[in-house]
Amino acid sequence: MASRAENEAMRHAIALAAFGLGTTSPNPVMGCVILDSQERVVGEGFHAYAGGPHAEIVALAHAGERAKNGTAVVTLESCDSVGQTGPCTRALIQAGVRRVVIAVSDPNPLAGHGAATLRDAGIQVEQGVREEEAAAGNVAWLTAVRRGWPYVTWRVASTLDGRTAAVDNSSEWITSEAARIDVHQLRGEADAIIIGVGTVLADNPRLTVRNVRDGSLAIRQSLRVVVDGDGETPDDARVRDGLAETWIATAAEVGTGPDGLVDLRALLRGLYQRGVRAALLEGGPTLAAGFLSAGLVDRVIGYMAPKLLGAGRPSLSGKELSNGVGVGILREPIDLEFTEITLVGPDIRYTAVPRYPARVPEPSLTAQLTPQVPKKADISAEERASSDIMRGVPIRGGSTKEKGED
Ligand SMILES: NC(=O)c1ccc[n+]([C@@H]2O[C@H](COP(=O)([O-])OP(=O)(O)OC[C@H]3O[C@@H](n4cnc5c(N)ncnc54)[C@H](OP(=O)(O)O)[C@@H]3O)[C@@H](O)[C@H]2O)c1
Repeated sequence: MASRAENEAMRHAIALAAFGLGTTSPNPVMGCVILDSQERVVGEGFHAYAGGPHAEIVALAHAGERAKNGTAVVTLESCDSVGQTGPCTRALIQAGVRRVVIAVSDPNPLAGHGAATLRDAGIQVEQGVREEEAAAGNVAWLTAVRRGWPYVTWRVASTLDGRTAAVDNSSEWITSEAARIDVHQLRGEADAIIIGVGTVLADNPRLTVRNVRDGSLAIRQSLRVVVDGDGETPDDARVRDGLAETWIATAAEVGTGPDGLVDLRALLRGLYQRGVRAALLEGGPTLAAGFLSAGLVDRVIGYMAPKLLGAGRPSLSGKELSNGVGVGILREPIDLEFTEITLVGPDIRYTAVPRYPARVPEPSLTAQLTPQVPKKADISAEERASSDIMRGVPIRGGSTKEKGED
């Protein structure tokens, strides 16, 4: 059984892991705390970016000799494969730790077996400590790796009466600056941002990750994906501005589903092949209806502004084609479970998890994982201050807020 100190160290390791959200794909986020033989914290670290040192390596370097006969507390089973940074199991064995406490076992067959290797080396291994909490922090990666396509968050901004754009198709005014700042945080945590060609034609968004106030761009940009069956994205569209990588996903490249539109499952599998584990679907209503009716949305994050419009675009719009095939038409309601409701500036932000009817293929393991996914922003000031390895997110000059990006 894990001691009180180990439990507390795991809580801290989970918070550290969240600092890697958005920069570690295709790797998971991971945190590690090293306790010395007297159970004092002597090292801590997190995996900051793919190709960079894993959490254990950072924490062991921090601890130095003090790791000997100590305990390594890790949010995810240590890797046993050589990879880009060498197996962490070897580093732990060489450091002379006596015990390793793990929250979640690694579902990745290429990296797994870490616990067995540690046990073979005579190290005591305890698994399953704060497992649910740690799994929630890694929900996108765990879900994606177990099923082979990314974890999809649909973010939508609407008025109180459920309108996502006015009759003239404008939508940039719906939510507050605070909500837009929050959306850029979500973008920063996603590996890809997906929209339909309808939104490109209506709003011409940039889809970059940036500071809403001064327009400066984050160093790491998410892949921009336009689902565009016939390749109608104009040459001068902002998504083609070169500020971030863009994939115009056409039917010719991805393939089509029975409705003749871009096959969204194939799209997601293609994104997984490109290393995308967390995708942010930003709409509009036709594409969102396509994703939802196929059971492909794992989580909804909605911003609801205290405004009424009375007319305009709804959040979802399905249609019946002339051949009778329905696109984005929900034959029966999809139940959602609210997991968080909060105020962001004057707007309500809700997080909800769809509970699809049995007929729709189960899209994810979210039902088995706590849906309260921590964000970098949720980490307390105390948590930040307690670590000497926190990194800021440097930004460079760029553009300002644009039409259609809430
Ligand atoms: N408030 C918000 O949160 C928000 C967010 C985004 C957009 N919007 C608003 O939404 C409006 C645009 O919405 P929209 O519905 O016209 O555009 P959309 O959903 O962005 O794009 C729809 C297009 O995507 C393409 N597509 C390809 N494969 C698809 C599939 N399997 N399922 C569904 N669509 C597929 C189709 O065009 P092809 O057949 O040519 O491939 C379809 O017409 C704008 O007014 C914008 O301001 C609001």
